[in-house]
Amino acid sequence: MKNRDNRTTTEIDAHMARATSAANSGMTFALDEYCCLICNAYLRKQIFQSDLPVIQDLTKFFMMIANLKNYSKLTEILVNTNNLTKNIKNLHLENDFQQVLSDTKKNQLRSLCNIKPTKDSRLHGDDDFYAKYARDLETNWVRNAQRFSGMKLKKSLNILDIGCGFGFFSHIAEFNGHNVDSIDMPNASPILKEASKLLKIKKHEFTIKKKVPLINLKKKFDVVTAFQIFFNGHCSKELWDVEEWRYFLLDLHDNILNDNGVVHLVFNAEHDNLKPIIIDGEQVFLGKKSVEEFFKPFFVMISGISRLENKMYAVLTKNNIKDACHTNLFKKRSYNIKASVSKYGF
Ligand SMILES: C[S@@+](CC[C@H](N)C(=O)[O-])C[C@H]1O[C@@H](n2cnc3c(N)ncnc32)[C@H](O)[C@@H]1O
Repeated sequence: MKNRDNRTTTEIDAHMARATSAANSGMTFALDEYCCLICNAYLRKQIFQSDLPVIQDLTKFFMMIANLKNYSKLTEILVNTNNLTKNIKNLHLENDFQQVLSDTKKNQLRSLCNIKPTKDSRLHGDDDFYAKYARDLETNWVRNAQRFSGMKLKKSLNILDIGCGFGFFSHIAEFNGHNVDSIDMPNASPILKEASKLLKIKKHEFTIKKKVPLINLKKKFDVVTAFQIFFNGHCSKELWDVEEWRYFLLDLHDNILNDNGVVHLVFNAEHDNLKPIIIDGEQVFLGKKSVEEFFKPFFVMISGISRLENKMYAVLTKNNIKDACHTNLFKKRSYNIKASVSKYGF
C-alpha cells in the first residue's frame, strides 16, 4: 500500500503541527517527545510511501535536538528505499525510538533544585548557584545539545568532558553512541553531583590545578571538551595566564589526545556579579588580554550556537597545539583589569 489511511494521516498531521510549533519556539524537550511519539505510535507499525514528507521533516527535527541516533535510523531508511520508492513492503521501525532525556529523568533532575546547600555549594545569595540549572533545565540542556550537534561527530569516538557539571553534554554524547569519560572536582556542588549520578555519567573526581597534570585515565581521547570553563581560576585572582594554559594544553597533547585528537574549549562569560571584564574600553571575554591574544587564532564560529558563546569557542588540534605553544605569544604580559557595567548590563 502506498498511502496511509485518512484517520492516522490526520493524527500524524496534528502531532507534526505540535512538533513544528515546538521547533519554532525552541522547545527542545517537547520537540523530542512529539517526534518520538510519531515514530513509535505510527512508523513502528508500518511506513507508507505517503509518509515521505513526515520522515524528511522528522530527520531535520531530530538533528536540531541532537537526537542523532534517531536521525541516523530514519536517514538510513530513506537511503535504503530511495526515498520510499522501493523495498517498502512491510517496512516499519524495528525498535521504539527514545528521547535523549526521558520524562522520568527530567522530573528527577528538576527536583534537584530543592537540595539544601552544603559547604560545597557555590552560593548565590541563599541559593545554590546551580539550582538554576535544575529549575531551568531546558535552557541549560539546549546549550549542550547545540554544542553537540555543532561538533558534527561522524563515528563513535572516545570523548573526555572536563568540568562536566550536570553531565548534560556527556549524556547527549553517550546517548548518541560515543564513549564518554568525564571529570569534575570531588567537592563540586551537591546538585551537580546528584545530577551526574542520575544521568549515570562515567565521572572521575579530580580537581584541576595550575601546572599539575590531568588524572591518568589510561586511555587516549579523540575529543576533549570543556564548556563554561571554571577550572582556570575563573572570576578569581588565580585566573590562569598563558603559562598555565600552555602547561595544560601540552599535557593534553602529550598524555591525553589521540594523534588526530581535537580540543573544544568554551570559556565562561558568567561572572558572580554579572560584570564583564573591560580593558581599555573593550570587553575581554577570557578575562586577560594575553590569554585572548593567544587563543585568537583558534576561535571558531559554529552555526546554531549562541552568538555570545561563539566569541569564546576555541578549537585546537593535537597538531597545532605544539606549534602554538612554541610561539612567543606565550610571553607573559600583565594588564590592569577593571570591571564596569554598560547600560544593558554588558
Ligand atoms: C559552569 S559549570 C559548567 C558545567 C558544564 N560544562 C556545562 O557547560 O553545562 C563548571 C564546572 O566546572 C567544575 N570545576 C570547577 N573548578 C574545577 C576544577 N578545578 N577541576 C575540575 N572541575 C572543576 C565545576 O564543579 C562545574 O561542574
